[in-house]
Amino acid sequence: MFQMRKPLPLLIFAFTLAGGSIISIEWAVAHMGASGVVKERMMLMKDISKSMKEIAAMMKGEVDYDSEKMSSLASIIASKGGEQITKLFPNGSLDETTEALPSIWQDWAKFKAVSGQLEITANELKAVSGDQFDAMGPFQKLAQTCGACHRTFRQKIN
Ligand code: HEC
Repeated sequence: MFQMRKPLPLLIFAFTLAGGSIISIEWAVAHMGASGVVKERMMLMKDISKSMKEIAAMMKGEVDYDSEKMSSLASIIASKGGEQITKLFPNGSLDETTEALPSIWQDWAKFKAVSGQLEITANELKAVSGDQFDAMGPFQKLAQTCGACHRTFRQKIN
């Protein structure tokens, strides 16, 4: 049962061969083989994404708007933008698990600018979090920032 896009059985097999412990197998399953800085940035992105989903649920009215919650979620995203992103992309850090594209380092100035934009826009959202109507513009801008970066610098594997 070998599926090219899901190398998990192979990975577990390799770990078993290498005498890997159960812990290392669980680790591999949880992070699909990613390690080091690649794993770190995947986790940072997952954190950002979790906050963004909660923000979106409020903006779409799926849950009640809560300005304090909005403020703290926007803070979380702001604190993970800018340098927090760029420092996890050392030159040429690509492996077989990454979705990052080489264009990041070919156009580093733009990548850095969009990382900074995420922080700025999240802070804009925080500044107007007291009012759902005011929050709409910065919320949309924030969502566009994720998309702008992913379109140019990320190739989804699955
Ligand atoms: C400056 C560029 C940039 C910005 C801004 C950005 N991302 Fe990403 N994101 C990336 C790159 C590059 C990857 C691929 C990382 C890798 O696989 O090594 C990624 C990966 C992800 C992933 C997949 C993580 C995984 O488990 O592999 C999610 C989810 C994600 N981003 C969500 C978001 C959301 C939501 C936002 C906006 C709030 C956002 N990102 C903003 C560049 C960015």
